[in-house]
Amino acid sequence: MPKDIAVVVGSLRKGSLNRLTAQALAKLAPESLRLEIVEIGQLPLYDQDLDEDPPQSWIAFRERIRRADGVLFVTPEYNRSVPSALKNAIDVGSRPYGHSAWSGKPAAIVSVSPGALGAFGANHHLRQSLVFLDMPVLQQPEAYLGGAGGFFDEGGELKNEGTKAFLTTFINAYAAWVEKVLTA
Ligand code: FNR
Repeated sequence: MPKDIAVVVGSLRKGSLNRLTAQALAKLAPESLRLEIVEIGQLPLYDQDLDEDPPQSWIAFRERIRRADGVLFVTPEYNRSVPSALKNAIDVGSRPYGHSAWSGKPAAIVSVSPGALGAFGANHHLRQSLVFLDMPVLQQPEAYLGGAGGFFDEGGELKNEGTKAFLTTFINAYAAWVEKVLTA
C-alpha cells in the first residue's frame, strides 16, 4: 500500500504556482507515495471559543490529517513569512490541546516564489512551528524554488527540466524519509 501523504498548499489562489508545484510533485512521486491536496481555504479562522463545539470543517480537516501517514507543505511566502491561511490550518490541526493531528508525522517543505529567494523566509518560519508540533522534517535536500513564474507551460505542466529533475530527487528523498520515520 502506498503511503498516504496529505499535501497542504499555502496559497488559495486559483492559478497558484504552489498548487501547480504540488500537482507536479504528485505526478513525479514514486509508487510508494500517494499525494493528495487537502484544502484549507474553507477553514474558519481559529478561535479557541469555537473549539467547545467545533465547526464541521475543522473536524473533517483534523480527521484527514490524522489519517495521513505524512504531510508535505508547499507554500508561498507572504511578507517574509507563512501565509495566514496556512498558519490558520496549522493552528486548527493542532487543537484541541493534547490532540494535535500533526504530531509525529514525517513532513517536508517546498517553498515556491516567482522572486529570487525561493520563499526562504516562509520555509524557515514554517519549520519553527513544525518543531513545536513534533513533526520530523526532511532536512536535505532543502527546496527553495525561485523564479517559479517560468516553470510551467500554459496547460500548467512543468516544462522546466532542471526543476523537474530537482523535484524528482526531492520527492524520492521524502519517500525514503517517510519510510525511515515510520519504521523507526
Ligand atoms: C507576496 N509575494 C511575496 N513573494 C516573496 O518571495 N516574498 C514575500 O515576502 C512576498 N510577500 C507577498 C505578500 C503578499 C500579501 C502577496 C499576495 C504576495 C509574492 C508571491 O510570491 C506571489 O504572489 C506568488 O505567486 C504567490 O504564490 P502562488 O499564489 O502563486 O502559489
